Amino acid sequence: MRVLVTGGAGFIGGAVVSALLGAGHDVRVLDALLPAVHPRYPGRPPGTEDVDLVVGDVRDPATVDAALAGVDAVCHQAAMVGLGVDVQDMPEYAGINVLGTGVLLAAMDRAGTGRLVLASSMVVYGEGRYVCAEHGVVPAAPRSRTELDAGRFDPPCPVCGRALSWGEVTEDAALDPRNTYAATKLAQEHLAAAWAATGGGTAVALRYHNVYGPRMPRDTPYSGVAAVFRSALEAGRAPRVFEDGRQQRDFVHVRDVAQANLRALEAGPAAGTLRAHNVASGSPHTIGEMATALAEAFGGPAPVVTGQYRIGDVRHVVASPQRAADELGFRAQVTFEDGVREFATAPLRPAP
Ligand code: UD1
Repeated sequence: MRVLVTGGAGFIGGAVVSALLGAGHDVRVLDALLPAVHPRYPGRPPGTEDVDLVVGDVRDPATVDAALAGVDAVCHQAAMVGLGVDVQDMPEYAGINVLGTGVLLAAMDRAGTGRLVLASSMVVYGEGRYVCAEHGVVPAAPRSRTELDAGRFDPPCPVCGRALSWGEVTEDAALDPRNTYAATKLAQEHLAAAWAATGGGTAVALRYHNVYGPRMPRDTPYSGVAAVFRSALEAGRAPRVFEDGRQQRDFVHVRDVAQANLRALEAGPAAGTLRAHNVASGSPHTIGEMATALAEAFGGPAPVVTGQYRIGDVRHVVASPQRAADELGFRAQVTFEDGVREFATAPLRPAP
């Protein structure tokens, strides 16, 4: 199969490219090599040496038309990621993520390319799944400053105010994007679903949980926590763990994420639909555990639990990996222990 990987010079896109090449597929990469993200490479960006590379912007129809020539499927990884800094980020997020996806889908329609795998995110859920002993599954309201300042980090039952227990979020959970990035990821899913329904294409949305691994970008306002901790250790500083460190996440290794993309490209749902899948390890860990495991494997200072918080952060998001296993045959292979040990000393992406 000839596959166009947008964002194929990036952290996750690069891992997808190697998985596709390893499985014998023909790969073309479309990447803008944004200066805010990519350093100036002496030659080709690492990982793109053996592929056809188109440097250009996914928002430019002529560039995308050219990149789609002869392509059977698109794996759309190009995106502006992270939580963002403030509302001033909105036009850039909406431009790259929403307009870019619209331009890509329109070009796929012109080219007759009917197969799409979309990089989505667990952020479309907002908070994870919570159960009240009395009221069953309940939505968790955003946490107030008063609660957080008092060190009450777990969201209470919206009906009775009692403590909730957390559980695995499934793909049919209510969607509740809570920041700009999340809103654009959900918009991408909606656009892809509309494209599939209109033109009869097949679309898979892969809702990545917390991806980590070699070549992760360094600490920026847009980085996930694993990169932030790793960058601190490299600078000789202790990882700073927010809240009480007991917030739960599912850390999934980038090589597993790449395998999920490969499976999704090779499987594909029924024509005319978008099917969403969690991409997760199935073994949740706390942020405190990640910090401790990384610090130990790196041989650096032990983490400090600060009690600070970021407004807008969710408390626990843990995924059910069942649907991806049943329908795509995807099961994560890299254990937390092995993945973190490798990540503690693996090269990160050089700073731009
Ligand atoms: C992250 C990504 C999100 C992505 C999702 C799934 C960011 C900013 N967020 O969401 O875009 O879609 O994974 O891959 O990239 N924390 C600390 N210390 C720090 C930084 C963070 O303790 O120095 C804590 C946060 O308070 C939070 C947890 O670590 O509780 C996770 O933070 P982070 O990785 O930034 O965001 P996610 O919500 O997990």
